[in-house]
Formats: sequence, structure tokens, C-alpha cells
Amino acid sequence: MIVCTTISELKAALARQRSKSPNGFIGLVPTMGYLHEGHASLMRRAGSECEFTVVSVFVNPLQFGPNEDFDKYPRDLERDAALAEKNGVALLFAPSVKEMYPTKPLTRVLISEVTESLCGASRPGHFDGVGTVVSKLFNLIQPNRAYFGMKDAQQVAVIQQMVDDLNMPVDIIPCETVREPDGLAMSSRNVYLTPEQRRQALVLSETLQQAGELIQSPEMTASKLTALASANVLTAPLAVIDYVELLHYPSLQPLDPVLKLADRSDKLILALAVKFGSTRLIDNRLFQPA
Ligand code: PAJ
Repeated sequence: MIVCTTISELKAALARQRSKSPNGFIGLVPTMGYLHEGHASLMRRAGSECEFTVVSVFVNPLQFGPNEDFDKYPRDLERDAALAEKNGVALLFAPSVKEMYPTKPLTRVLISEVTESLCGASRPGHFDGVGTVVSKLFNLIQPNRAYFGMKDAQQVAVIQQMVDDLNMPVDIIPCETVREPDGLAMSSRNVYLTPEQRRQALVLSETLQQAGELIQSPEMTASKLTALASANVLTAPLAVIDYVELLHYPSLQPLDPVLKLADRSDKLILALAVKFGSTRLIDNRLFQPA
């Protein structure tokens, strides 16, 4: 596996690959590192569909708010490189902040509407930072396909919207959420949880599971379902709700609160963001039309 920390090394390695195999697909898995099995599943999917898989590891300061965990975000490049290599990655791109932003960046990719609810509402500016860095990575690497996890379903909707609006020549491939054996969605931030918080964090996946049954009942509405889901999250004494919302997906527009969910005609998402101490966890589940 090639490891590049500079843009010039990255470009040289990609040029070599393109001249060796002009028609070979290049796959990109953008990450912020501290890789786990969720990231690995994206790498393996890319490896099964592309000839040359690139993984980027970059903790992007533009997508963190002033009081968020940019400084303490977990980092371990050596371990990340070993995991990427084991999962068939051809090139790991791990630039410094100075390499990606040598001067103060004055340009942002702003995506509206799909960014206005859920994490976009709780984390102002977050998706501008994501859109900007992902655009830079697409320009630098020019992948045929880019792989994103549905654990961050809003991020997938935002990136797909950006690619469609700006005619970016890349296919976005959404990949399923990978979970711990007990159901907790894998996340680099899970390492922050104390053992007691980790036990109680199971309430997220359990609430989504329970919602799968509740949504079947003939009288269920969006407002009833979110109220029941919120009440279930709050059975964990340490849980503090950031949001519990049922929206259309991928538009992320609100539903008529009294519409009977049995009569729904498009895809819905139940999205949760819950804090345990200072650690904010997200999870979601999609529901196809009945
Ligand atoms: P990060 O949180 O490191 O996630 C990188 C990719 O891995 C994202 O597409 C995310 O959805 C996916 N992922 C994380 N946990 C997953 C899980 N349990 N199952 C499946 N996929 C999972 O998302 C980011 O980084 C950044 O915002 C980034 C896109 C790299 C831009 O900076």
C-alpha cells in the first residue's frame, strides 16, 4: 500500500496508476481515521467494485464547531494504515491540515435545505465543511466511485445533492451501517464512552428496532412514533436527546404529523442524536413505503 501525506505524492501515484490502467475504476473512501469495521466494510465494498481503492484520513477542521471535539478527536495513523492495508486499500492519503489548507480557505460549498434539519440544525456550518472537504477530495483524486456509510444518512443525502447539483463526475455508493454484536452502530467516537454510558447507548439501536414494529400499527402517526421513540430513549437515565425525528428521505423534509404512517408513499428515516456526557451518538433507520 502506498502512503501519501502530500498532494504532489498523491497526484504522482494516481498518474502512475492511470497510465498503467487507463480504464480501471478508482474508488474513494473518505474518512477522518481511527478506523473501525464500519470503515473497513466501505473499503471492502470499494475493493470489490474498483481496481484501485484510495482511503483518505483527514480530521477536517472546517466541519467542527468551535466547541466540538476537533482537538481531542481520536487519531492513530499507524493503526489506520494497518487496517487499510489489511482491507485491500492501494493508497492511503493522510495529509496535514497545512497541506489541505495552506492558506485560509475563503471558499465554501454551501448545500441548503437537506442541511437544515437533524445534524445540520444542531451543528451549524458542519455540512458546509463536509461539502467543501469532500469536493476537494473529489477534485484531487477524481474517483469513479465514492463510498459513504448510511450511519451518516444525512451526509449521504447532502453529498448526493451536491454531486447532482454540480454535475460532479462520481457515483456515490451508500453502504449499510455496521454494528457491534449488541447493536450499537460503530463509531470512532464510541471510545469516549464510559462502561456505563456504553451499556446505556444500546438504547439507540433498541429504539430503532422497536420503531420498526410500532410503524406497522394501523393508527401510528409521525408525532406518535417520535413521542414513543423519545420516551424509549429516555429510559436510559444518562441519555440527553439532541433530536428524535421522522422525516422523508432523502429530502429530509418533515412529514404531516397526523398522516397515518400505514398510508406513507415514500421512504422515511427515523434519525436519533443522543448525548451521553459530552459524547454525541447518532443512528438511524430507513423505512420503505408500506
Ligand atoms: P468518518 O466519521 O470517519 O466516516 C467515514 C465514513 O465511514 C463515512 O461515510 C461514514 O458514514 C462511514 N461510517 C462510519 N461509521 C460507520 C458504520 N458503523 N457503518 C458504516 N459506515 C460507517 O464521515 C466522515 O468521517 C467525514 O464527515 C468525511 C466524509 C470523511 C468528511 O470529512
